[in-house]
Amino acid sequence: MVLERLTERKVIRDPIHGYINIEYKVIWEAIDSKEFQRLRRIKQLGGDFQVYPSAEHTRFTHSLGVYEIVRRMVTEIASLSEELSEKDKVAVMLAGLLHDVGHGPFSHAFEQVTGINHEDYTAKIILGNTEINAILSKVSRTLAKEVVSIIQHKHVNDLLNQIVSAQLDADRMDYLLRDSYYSATSYGQFDLERILRTLRVREHDDGKKYLVIKESGIHSVEDYIMARYQMYWQVYYHPVARAYEALFIKFFSRLKDIHKENKSFFKDLPYLLPFLENKEIDEEEYFRLDEAALQYYWNIIQHKNDEIAADLASRLINRDLFEYEDYTEEKFEKLKKELVEKGYDPTYYLRKESITASTYSPFTGQKILIIRKDGTILELEKASTIVNSISKGEIKKEGTIFFPKI
Ligand code: NI
Repeated sequence: MVLERLTERKVIRDPIHGYINIEYKVIWEAIDSKEFQRLRRIKQLGGDFQVYPSAEHTRFTHSLGVYEIVRRMVTEIASLSEELSEKDKVAVMLAGLLHDVGHGPFSHAFEQVTGINHEDYTAKIILGNTEINAILSKVSRTLAKEVVSIIQHKHVNDLLNQIVSAQLDADRMDYLLRDSYYSATSYGQFDLERILRTLRVREHDDGKKYLVIKESGIHSVEDYIMARYQMYWQVYYHPVARAYEALFIKFFSRLKDIHKENKSFFKDLPYLLPFLENKEIDEEEYFRLDEAALQYYWNIIQHKNDEIAADLASRLINRDLFEYEDYTEEKFEKLKKELVEKGYDPTYYLRKESITASTYSPFTGQKILIIRKDGTILELEKASTIVNSISKGEIKKEGTIFFPKI
């Protein structure tokens, strides 16, 4: 394995981290690959720019930010740096950089309508016949596999998995700060510097090594937990962003139905076709359909002779969004009737959606661990009265109906 360094450290300006620092050639080349550059054409926050107009930032800058946090973790946290070989460090930096490379256009809405899982495509792109794979394979035959195993949380050295995705990981720490900055909301702010200064590696009772936070850093972690909670409800689950995504979902389901009867509708929309046929999409087909291509297609479709698809495309372009109301069965049935009376087909103009704890709960899965002055390790909710009381609170549920103004 040859881990070549660049003759000079490269830097990229970034509003969250100041600079993104690149030392290794393989990282620089991965950034330059066409699959990574594609992330410039995928927005980080799907429909959120319809609510927060400056939230137009992309998966590209987020991925660079995750890389930078990983780089700082493995170089600045002494107890972590000592645990890892140079090869491990480069692999985990690459995992941070590439963890979102398989995201499709309008990520979550797109996954819902196509049944595609971006994590599968992240693995396919890193392991497949791609520029990224060629770049990683030049370094070593096993590097690509190792990077994928970290992203999939399956690497034998669990510390590497924890760095990229756990409860307090580089991915979340970057997206909270970045999404907060670009949405111009203050909810996602927390003290990243303090967290990095108080992170340590320690062995727990099960004999495994974990990333833990020193007790003196507990307030910055409490802040981070609140940042997450508020960002979810104020930004990620904002009903207006979901109203835009609801339009997108209905638009796509209309295309699927047209495709069953009239394939010629798509003769000038070739990049869409693979997603409408019930077949496995290969990396190349997946690669072509980015947000730029989709938006161009909306433009074409809004002038086509299918009234429903044309209307939904025009709504997406001109921000003629669906309205929304809290869900009740009576309201839903009443709206259905009214829509039919006004000539709307509810199949494409009425959507019910619910968000429950299963979609998001800050306290499921892995735990954040705190190390006390006497060396004992305990779970955050036992060490923090604030987290303890909010973890006992009721789980928020929300049901929403989306429909056009009638
Ligand atoms: Ni991410």
